[in-house]
Amino acid sequence: MNTIAPVTAPTLIDPFARLIKYVRLSVTDRCDFRCVYCMSENMQFLPRDHVLTLDEIARIGKIFSGLGVETFRLTGGEPLIRRDLPWLVEQLAAHSEVVMTTNGSRLTQFAKPLKKAGLSRLNISLDTLDEHQFHELTRIGHLKDVLNGIDAAQAAGFTIKLNVVIMKGRNDDQILPLVYFAHERGLDISFIEEMPLGVIDEHSRQLTFMPSDEVRQIIEQEIALAPSQYHTTGPSRYWQTASQLPSAPKSRIGFISPHSHNFCGDCNRVRVTSEGRLLLCLGNEQGTDLMPLLRGSATDHEIVERIKMALTMKPEKHHFDLNDTPQIVRFMNMTGG
Ligand code: 5AD
Ligand code: SF4
Repeated sequence: MNTIAPVTAPTLIDPFARLIKYVRLSVTDRCDFRCVYCMSENMQFLPRDHVLTLDEIARIGKIFSGLGVETFRLTGGEPLIRRDLPWLVEQLAAHSEVVMTTNGSRLTQFAKPLKKAGLSRLNISLDTLDEHQFHELTRIGHLKDVLNGIDAAQAAGFTIKLNVVIMKGRNDDQILPLVYFAHERGLDISFIEEMPLGVIDEHSRQLTFMPSDEVRQIIEQEIALAPSQYHTTGPSRYWQTASQLPSAPKSRIGFISPHSHNFCGDCNRVRVTSEGRLLLCLGNEQGTDLMPLLRGSATDHEIVERIKMALTMKPEKHHFDLNDTPQIVRFMNMTGG
């Protein structure tokens, strides 16, 4: 009897049986801020011809989508440094869900075109509501630009989550003000433990480290929280206000805790850097360089084979250690935040 093999959808599965459905695409290493936890002050950026073109990124997206990837997150640096970004969003949105992480500074200009191009959701980084502190943390950024950007994104109809990196002694006084700000506007908010990516001379991560549980305790001094059933495809664990805030919209409060609550078991993602390196893990160096294939005459099939081969090297988990000098010398802006 002839048996016909069942047709299965193409999928990417790593050696630990994790299904890869989500790819973070860093579209540039450049940024109009210099956040202290993300970059050194005198960051040397890549020469432009070392950075993927938007066409090349669109091609990578198409290939991953053919392998079962459902969602792309555009990151940087700051993605909106690339002025034609809505074009890329449109290409990717033709086959997949597209979301973006941004510092918000250019959203007054870009929110509407991004919405029109098919972008689904935005994560906006905001670590403080104090102008002076904002300037200290971003070195060159202006708070007003980001607040106006958030307004523009809400007006354009985006669902927004705020991302906050809390550092003890630097912005831990902003935890409650940021939670109230998110609530007033009906935004979700996630607090992120700082990750040791890149060596930062003037900033000691051991001294400023603040575990998520401590952040949550500060919130709970004023607002009762209950664990939320809500899950995204990401590493956030969510809590919800027990709604004694007057007319509280149900914003969720998330915690991304690479140090205190390892999330690698559920990892469903890989990254492509702006130089075209496929990185298999945020906290490890394993990866493969797709650029020679993209700029050579490789076929899509050859690129697929390279991706599948690389995936066999995906590590089980990161090994971040705050007491050690970082083993990962690349900064977040080189990694795709
Ligand atoms: N640790 C944790 N989060 C970081 N980000 C940038 N650098 C770090 C780091 N070292 C975050 C930003 C932003 C996203 C791009 O990554 O706050 O939300
Ligand atoms: Fe730019 Fe975001 Fe890095 Fe800050 S954290 S320097 S906004 S990429």
